[in-house]
Amino acid sequence: MPSRRNLQKSLVSTLLCAGNLASASLVYVSSYSQTVTTLNYTHGQNTGIQKLNPVAVSQGCSDNPSWLTLDAPDSILGVVFGNNRHGLAVAHYGGSAFTTWDVSNPNSLKLLQTKTFKLTGPPSRPDRQDAPHPHEAVLDPTGKFLLVPDLGMDLIHLYSFDPNTLALKDITPLSVKPGSGPRHITFVVKGSKTFAYLVTELGNTIIGYDVTYPNGQIKLTEIFNIPSHGAGPAEPSSYAASEVVVSPDTNYLIVSSRAENSTSIPDFDDPSRIIPSDPLINFKINPTTGQLQLLQVVPAGGQFPRQFSINKEGNLLAVGLQNDGRVVFVDRCPETGLLGGFVAYADIEGQITAAIFDQK
Ligand SMILES: *[C@@H]1O[C@H](CO)[C@@H](O)[C@H](O)[C@H]1NC(C)=O
Ligand SMILES: *[C@@H]1O[C@H](CO)[C@@H](O)[C@H](O)[C@H]1NC(C)=O
Repeated sequence: MPSRRNLQKSLVSTLLCAGNLASASLVYVSSYSQTVTTLNYTHGQNTGIQKLNPVAVSQGCSDNPSWLTLDAPDSILGVVFGNNRHGLAVAHYGGSAFTTWDVSNPNSLKLLQTKTFKLTGPPSRPDRQDAPHPHEAVLDPTGKFLLVPDLGMDLIHLYSFDPNTLALKDITPLSVKPGSGPRHITFVVKGSKTFAYLVTELGNTIIGYDVTYPNGQIKLTEIFNIPSHGAGPAEPSSYAASEVVVSPDTNYLIVSSRAENSTSIPDFDDPSRIIPSDPLINFKINPTTGQLQLLQVVPAGGQFPRQFSINKEGNLLAVGLQNDGRVVFVDRCPETGLLGGFVAYADIEGQITAAIFDQK
């Protein structure tokens, strides 16, 4: 049987889909240098790997709450929720807490609730699970439940809420395999079925769930638990799986993994040099069972692809390479779901925390 690594695609320099029309995208990039940088890339021109210069750089956080949904310097990830999207839910990794805000007036955000977590027993991985570490806040597809994966506690905190007052109601949290370190979760709706996919950072696994709503409550039932590179032997514990994103057509799931250095690519600024790269792992979603089938593994463009996004056309990925201070754009064919080569990049000061398309 060929090894999973042999699925590695060679880099291609031409665009994957002949039909890609030229279209400009703005991408916001946040970094530990306390800036949000705006990039403007026009895709579909087939002009090799373009180097992009920022069109704008803002210092610190603007008062617009949409900025807060970026992964800001103190490691928070938030989501808007409630009627008229007037709530913001934020996970505080370092503070072991989860907060909700009323953002109806963007110039005066109002703190509503703070949930502070405490470890309930000795952690499986004391080095990383010294305390609760809520990693992000996610809204389920019905818009009625908030999920907060907690890397330190090996569970997902669950809440329902009043859509008008935003008052939270605790639901029994969902336990995840000890030592796995839940990080990010995403949902897929396929007809009457809903699936959820959780990436664990310490266990380097993808856990699939069947999501149902008995008596109006959310219920996640585990359907599989596979390594981050797909069914097969466990990945080394030194790896650190990070982001999980579903394509806009909901047919594909892409995971990024860090601390692998499993591939080598030409340096963007000096192609005669070779630099190490971590991977993006691309899966096809079975619409009936929710199972994942490995499609390909491609270089992410450097070290520590902490976060990445797909544009709504589904033909472009923006990948933030934390340790290289770089954002790369990866070509994608929406029809086949295949990821292609690099089409553009930008060097940005500080460690990159997120790269998000200005869309929706
Ligand atoms: C982005 O680039 C396109 C194409 O060059 C241009 O039309 C558009 O005005 C640019 N947008 C910004 C905000 O710079
Ligand atoms: C990956 O390679 C870089 C550059 O050679 C090195 O600094 C880094 O420690 C390596 N990381 C891992 C996890 O091997």
